[in-house]
Amino acid sequence: AQERTLAMIKPDGLQGNYMDQIKAAILEAGFEIVEESTFQLDFEKASLFYAEHSGKTFFQSLIAYITSGPVLAMVLEKPNAILEWRALIGPTNASKAKVSHPRSIRAMCGMDSERNCVHGSDSPQSARREILFFFGDKMNLSDFEKH
Ligand code: CMP
Repeated sequence: AQERTLAMIKPDGLQGNYMDQIKAAILEAGFEIVEESTFQLDFEKASLFYAEHSGKTFFQSLIAYITSGPVLAMVLEKPNAILEWRALIGPTNASKAKVSHPRSIRAMCGMDSERNCVHGSDSPQSARREILFFFGDKMNLSDFEKH
């Protein structure tokens, strides 16, 4: 069965001109890019997207980073998309990814635990919420679950 996940290229990924390389890796791994659009998040929207991290020490810094420029949000589809996209991007901490997962996307374009250039949904519930966050106007609820 097909599954959908939300991928996001963060401001550092776009500013570093990694978009083409990231998209090439996505297509080479067999994902279909079902939707894509750039967004400039503001404080309110970014805080909503990352609401689960609102109590963390790094929250203010994370919001400043993610609102520092445009992001590219994409809906990716393939069987097991959520886990496969997380595997392709590698660990959250990009500086560690460079050592442990040198072929991962975060190893290629990330810097550290915050500036890690890409995001991926971590569960079916997150994927659903995050796809609706960016593309709610374009989606039917059934579109990103099994079909
Ligand atoms: P992401 O996968 O988008 O989910 C939450 C984000 O918070 C994460 O990527 C990083 O950008 C950031 N983040 C996670 N852990 C830390 C940390 N320890 N310090 C700073 N930023 C972090």
